[in-house]
Amino acid sequence: MVDGHTQLVGLIGWPVKHSLSPAMHNAAFDALELNWRYVPLPVPPGEVEAAVRGLVALGFRSANVTVPHKRAVISMLDSAAPNARDLGAVNTLVIERREGSSTVIKGYNTDDQGFINALQHEGFDVGGWKSAVVVGAGGAARAIIYSLLRSGKGEIVVLNRTLERAQALISDLGLCPQETSRLRALPLTVETLVESARAAGLLINATTVGMWPHVEHSIWPPDVPIPVHLTVFDLVYNPPQTRLLKQARESRAHGISGLGMLVEQGALSFKIWTGKPAPVEVMRAVCEQALKR
Ligand SMILES: NC(=O)c1ccc[n+]([C@@H]2O[C@H](COP(=O)([O-])OP(=O)(O)OC[C@H]3O[C@@H](n4cnc5c(N)ncnc54)[C@H](OP(=O)(O)O)[C@@H]3O)[C@@H](O)[C@H]2O)c1
Repeated sequence: MVDGHTQLVGLIGWPVKHSLSPAMHNAAFDALELNWRYVPLPVPPGEVEAAVRGLVALGFRSANVTVPHKRAVISMLDSAAPNARDLGAVNTLVIERREGSSTVIKGYNTDDQGFINALQHEGFDVGGWKSAVVVGAGGAARAIIYSLLRSGKGEIVVLNRTLERAQALISDLGLCPQETSRLRALPLTVETLVESARAAGLLINATTVGMWPHVEHSIWPPDVPIPVHLTVFDLVYNPPQTRLLKQARESRAHGISGLGMLVEQGALSFKIWTGKPAPVEVMRAVCEQALKR
């Protein structure tokens, strides 16, 4: 029931129509009997400042921020968590109301830790990996590379269709020389992918390749087995079983769906907003159900 005491959480992004987050968070609020509601708020590019002012004026308690606003929203914050500052991206907001009518807007990023928690959930040794391959150089790849650098000591090959974007990502992350020396950017080709993956323990698809409706697409070539020792993490979660994950299964390699990361980053946001541990399994089940539909 929505009443005068209901605490509101918004999702600002463009588009947000197909987001799983409203179903996931509303189920979590219900499971913990919290009088909170999560609502999708479509905000066109260029309108994020007005949207955040609107959240404050309407008494929203908190929000998620998604594509394309994760960077732009930073200029609206009174404070940002250190990882959000390093990443230059925020996906979680808290609006604190102080004495009188003043408000403080705090920004967080839960994507990086959400990825690490999802890996851990699958039994992967997040501190022990020696070599990883990240395919992609967009916003998601940024959070993945940052979290891998902080969680382990291994080396990372970043492969991207547009090499300049991978190079820019590395120089833009504000890393110390020691961290930069653990990163190498190469153009994405069948040869660089297969060769880098052979030497690695972890392969991450951080591109949009394989996303619905292009479910038959994969970054991995059709006629080459995936090395059996490899853990393959596909950030794409729609569909949960991508072509790449099917290839991993056929090669008896360990495949992990991006759904786990979606749920884990959501669980971390939930804890920031409510102060309570999130009902992770409820959230996962709701997302699985929604994707089946
Ligand atoms: N599981 C989760 O919780 C989670 C969280 C965030 C994102 N994601 C997923 O991660 C993926 C990337 O998201 P993003 O926000 O980083 O997107 P983005 O910023 O738009 O970046 C897209 C990336 O995909 C590459 N790409 C696109 N089409 C390609 C193709 N045909 N061949 C090779 N590379 C191609 C782009 O390469 P160029 O630079 O050459 O264009 C770029 O590196 C999406 O599928 C998104 O749904 C999942």
